[in-house]
Amino acid sequence: MTIIVTGGAGFIGSNFVFHMLNTYPDYRIVCLDKLTYAGNLSTLAPVMDNPKFRFVKADICDREAVNTLFEEEKPDMVVNFAAESHVDRSIEDPEIFLKTNILGTATLMDACRKYGIKRYHQVSTDEVYGDLPLDRPDLFFTEDTPIHTSSPYSSSKAGADLLVLAYHRTYGLPVSISRCSNNYGPYHFPEKLIPLMIANALNNKLLPVYGEGINVRDWLYVEDHCKAIDLIIHKGRVGEVYNVGGHNEMKNIDIVRLICKELGKSEELITFVKDRKGHDMRYAIDPTKIHNELGWLPETCFADGIKKTITWYLENRAWWENIINGEYQNYYERMYKDR
Ligand code: NAD
Ligand code: DAU
Repeated sequence: MTIIVTGGAGFIGSNFVFHMLNTYPDYRIVCLDKLTYAGNLSTLAPVMDNPKFRFVKADICDREAVNTLFEEEKPDMVVNFAAESHVDRSIEDPEIFLKTNILGTATLMDACRKYGIKRYHQVSTDEVYGDLPLDRPDLFFTEDTPIHTSSPYSSSKAGADLLVLAYHRTYGLPVSISRCSNNYGPYHFPEKLIPLMIANALNNKLLPVYGEGINVRDWLYVEDHCKAIDLIIHKGRVGEVYNVGGHNEMKNIDIVRLICKELGKSEELITFVKDRKGHDMRYAIDPTKIHNELGWLPETCFADGIKKTITWYLENRAWWENIINGEYQNYYERMYKDR
């Protein structure tokens, strides 16, 4: 079995590469990644010498490079994590989101059609469903919830999802889609809420909470997401969408307070800043389908997962310090100065 994993130098993709190499020692895992600002080759250092692993630096929008890789590897499956993934960056400049997330997906699927494939899996997000009101805790996203997006990021992911389903119906491409809630864990890029707050707190910097901090996200430990995708590509039905989430809804402010507590930092570091434009209020996944059909359930509870995550950031300072000491500083200035 040969699997092309795109975006494998990013947060979830790298965790998936590790999961697959550990779980299926006889599989060949080929990582295709453009190494954008969010991709980090040092993350993959532990597997670079593994004879079952190959890294290829390429853009999923580059038809020639993608076709060449398919000719060389003759993959059985493609799991597409490659994407521009940060909502705030999409608000600043949507174009690259449309290119990578929509055209890149089409380029990969065209190669799948041309060379044949057993499964094309699209890693999508709960953000394609838009948001839920805070005063209706009884509502959850199911696979039948209409697509209703808020940001250029979520719109680009929704566009890709529609294209994936269209390639299935029109060309019979054997596809599947997972729509997951917010992930956290090792190798999470420090522009996102949890790693940003951990890094800032450790450096005694202000902790910028958008708006009133009452927005709710449904947090899932990254390994549980990887296990869900593993199940879907092996046992999930072709042409289907599976929601992935662990009923772990938390307000942003409560997450930030918890991080302060775990690190022994004062809550006085918390500062409320201008809200994100179009800020989604609440995400909440109903994972009944993946549970009933594939037996998936999250294994790591938030209390344990956040401790493991904080410990990882304490023990791997060089990984995130390298990032925040580089080009990231310009991004941080742009995003948070005068906010
Ligand atoms: P990330 O930003 O950490 O990593 C993205 C990776 O894709 C990077 O390695 C980057 O170099 C690579 N990449 C970007 N553009 C590329 C291109 N044109 N060609 C090849 N490689 C390219 O993202 P993440 O948080 O790991 O998210 C991975 C996927 O999971 C995304 O599709 C995202 O939409 C989805 N997702 C993320 C979450 C989450 O909480 N992080 C939740 C649900 C779904
Ligand atoms: O729900 C899945 C999605 O989760 C994925 O599709 C996205 O790729 C991923 O980035 C994530 O999107 P969010 O926008 O929910 O994640 P982010 O970490 O950017 O923000 C989480 C919440 O925290 C959100 O309500 C905004 C808020 N926030 C974020 C940052 C970076 C702050 O209050 N302050 C911050 O500095």
